Amino acid sequence: MAEKKKILRALAGEVLDTPPIWMMRQAGRYLPEYRATRAQAGDFLSLCYNSELAAEVTLQPIRRYKFDAAILFADILLLPQALGADLWFITGEGPRLSTITEDIDFAKLGNIEDIHETLSPVYETVRIVSKELPKETTLIGFAGAPWTVATYMIAGQGTPDQGPAHKLKAENRVLFNKLIDTLTVSTIEYLSRQVDAGAEVVKIFDSWAGSLKGEDFIEFALEPAKRITQEMKARFPHLPVIAFPREANDKYIGFGKATGADCVAVDNSVSPEWVAEHLQPDGCVQGNLKSSHMVTGGQKLIDETKRVVQALRNGPHIFNLGHGITPDADPENVQLMIDTVRST
Ligand code: CP3
Repeated sequence: MAEKKKILRALAGEVLDTPPIWMMRQAGRYLPEYRATRAQAGDFLSLCYNSELAAEVTLQPIRRYKFDAAILFADILLLPQALGADLWFITGEGPRLSTITEDIDFAKLGNIEDIHETLSPVYETVRIVSKELPKETTLIGFAGAPWTVATYMIAGQGTPDQGPAHKLKAENRVLFNKLIDTLTVSTIEYLSRQVDAGAEVVKIFDSWAGSLKGEDFIEFALEPAKRITQEMKARFPHLPVIAFPREANDKYIGFGKATGADCVAVDNSVSPEWVAEHLQPDGCVQGNLKSSHMVTGGQKLIDETKRVVQALRNGPHIFNLGHGITPDADPENVQLMIDTVRST
């Protein structure tokens, strides 16, 4: 039998001599080969829906760096599009969607059963990548968490404080709950198809979890993550789940246990020493080098990379950045980070 993949071993709670590594947004604009394939596709969304080219960009960082995991190339906003929202990207600005502010906007969305028609190219990407990956590399599928996806669907774009979503939550709770529920159920169906197609791990990205306070955090970040995780594990008993309630701060504590997630990914608003003390006793953690080091490089990159590895070396750990790598990053700094992790 082939030796179990390093990422899967860490997710199962094993402490490895060297942590496995991958990087959020590892297929992205900092890589010249990504920019070339994106130009070939035409634009970002065309790239997401072109299975051959999406598989190609998924594999590019694996070829260049031999990361321990590949993450499916897609976007968290494809699900709202499959549910019937309009979606487009403005270069240099980000995503735009039709908004949801009243019951009539929600009523215009389609049926959950119909999402797969739009999303089938994504499943095909997973099938292609899973055939072409080196045998030691793990394939991660993903979706946005209901709250984070809802913030974009309500506002129609990214917002600094998720104000429109908080407003709808306060003013029309029935509608807000219906939207969260629809997203929770459709996310389970979306992730299940990714697993059927060959994803070996799934990650739930809750990029705006940090703006939910008190009871709201429990109701709209923790509970949906728990429902998704538990249903995925009921359907696929051995499937590892990574949860990323970004900027949850002290609410990271116990998040893995409460949701059933095998691993909690952490951003860099918490220190690796704090993570070792408060989260690692419960299981695997993923993170959390500041992504700006991929721009600035040098001795500081080496020192901070070593600090993360050393702080988290006594428990299960997957090395990653605290958030996605940015387009201005230097590809050579990524190699320096990897070499540092593998020699610390
Ligand atoms: O990590 C990966 O490499 C896998 C692919 C992936 C993308 N987006 C590709 C992408 C994943 C996992 C995402 C998740 C995603 N998308 C999140 C959650 C994680 C996070 O970053 O907080 C969010 C909030 C989105 C929504 C989104 N997509 C925004 C706000 C933007 C614009 C910002 C930007 O970086 O341009 C995107 C675009 C996007 N998604 C790009 C990529 C590679 C850049 C698009 C391009 O090539 O022009």
